[in-house]
Amino acid sequence: VTIGLDLGTSGLKGVALTAAGELVAQASRSYPLLTPRPGWTEQRPQDWAQALTGVLQDLMQKLNLANAVPLALGLSGQMHGAVFLDQHGEALRPAPLWNDQRTAEAVGEIERAIPRADLIARTGNRAVTGFQLPKLLWLRQAEPEVFARTAQVLLPKDYLGFLLTGQFRTEPSDASGVGALNLAAKTWDQDVLYALNLPPGLFPEVINSWDVVGTLVPEMAHLTGLPLNLPVVAGGGDNAAAGIALGLTASRPAVGSVSLGTSGVLFVPLVGPTPDPEGRVHLFAHADGSYHLLGVTLACAGALQWLRDKLAPEASFQTLLTEAAGVPDGADGVTFLPYLSGERSPHMNPDLRGAWTGLSLAHGRPEMVRALLEGTACALSDTYQVMRPLSAVTSLLATGGGAKNDLWLGLASGALGLPVTHTAHEPGAAEGAALLALPAAGLVPSIRAVLEGIQPEGETVVPLSMQRAQAQHHQQFRLLYGEQRAETG
Ligand code: XUL
Repeated sequence: VTIGLDLGTSGLKGVALTAAGELVAQASRSYPLLTPRPGWTEQRPQDWAQALTGVLQDLMQKLNLANAVPLALGLSGQMHGAVFLDQHGEALRPAPLWNDQRTAEAVGEIERAIPRADLIARTGNRAVTGFQLPKLLWLRQAEPEVFARTAQVLLPKDYLGFLLTGQFRTEPSDASGVGALNLAAKTWDQDVLYALNLPPGLFPEVINSWDVVGTLVPEMAHLTGLPLNLPVVAGGGDNAAAGIALGLTASRPAVGSVSLGTSGVLFVPLVGPTPDPEGRVHLFAHADGSYHLLGVTLACAGALQWLRDKLAPEASFQTLLTEAAGVPDGADGVTFLPYLSGERSPHMNPDLRGAWTGLSLAHGRPEMVRALLEGTACALSDTYQVMRPLSAVTSLLATGGGAKNDLWLGLASGALGLPVTHTAHEPGAAEGAALLALPAAGLVPSIRAVLEGIQPEGETVVPLSMQRAQAQHHQQFRLLYGEQRAETG
């Protein structure tokens, strides 16, 4: 078997899979999310380290019972976080995460130092609040004494790689979420780092996603029971690794994915590094050597969770969704703009805010929920419109909590104008990381062969009309955006 790890925002998940993709064991550990100030999100690398030994110990116990031997371990995890290490490899402070919002000033610093079009041409992305690069500039400005002691900055999953092997390495899919990787060359962009006065030595060496970071150090073998010298494979950022698990690759350019999770995520494979010229969606390296676009709308199933928690704590999701199913397209004139925590794609504006409009005394919970579902579908569609000229996608595989509901998925399909298939068995990033480790384990000859072996199936939902809802959404968005722009000057 191979082991795959996914260092998520709520916990670390580990799986062990056979070369045929059969799940032999799984384990997980959670850790706290720290929010020391409004807009700040952090986790302690020490908590990740503890979760790592716990998950690996559990997996080894189960594998011993099943008489299975791990031949390689692959990594994946939340993107964009920053683990600051001193010269002894000790974490200097909690790691700011992908959804941390403290970097507005640092984003401004990057935009002043490098023209936006140039940064997009080099790295595939404009300066984005959540990316790792502005976190480093924030540290230099806000905690200069910590910055002075920082010898290495690692992405979250690459920190696990360091703990397991003692090596500082990364791979292109996660590294492209730093904001300083030259996408065509797949190495750190020296000009970008020079313009920001950052020493290239802070960043780890970039190797292929299926290459070996190093072999397991004796201390970790002793702690976990894993075989000494086990190859640890670089793996991928969680979106790329989940894409691998779904079989998404530029050699199958017609199939992309949509996830209706806490946030809404669109994944579109690309052969070459062709960005949206305005950087309204992300362009990242994929873990199979190709590229992909990633559109992230920050509020999706998370918005329904928020509505339920705040306004209808006694109602089940099923009740809310059933009520909404009885309301026609356009929610009887009610529109929901889902920008509860600002928006990434396509507006890239952390200051946008949400709204319901068009409410009357005749309306109630069913219309408000319907409008919320329609609003999240419209936000995904706004993002897809930016991706469409660059992509060859003709259908999407759907994952995430919201995808289990035919109404929500039908609305997404209708808004996107694409057939959407719900995969019953939903493989995630941990499975993708285990698959990425198959070549190093000697179980499959290449990553291409791994992807050829994956044929996802599922049920295609009926697309629902979103004509009225989309017209209202765009009208209300223009109104609200004009107002918010006027307010913020
Ligand atoms: C992608 C992103 C998130 C994290 C969460 O750009 O920020 O999907 O990877 O795990």
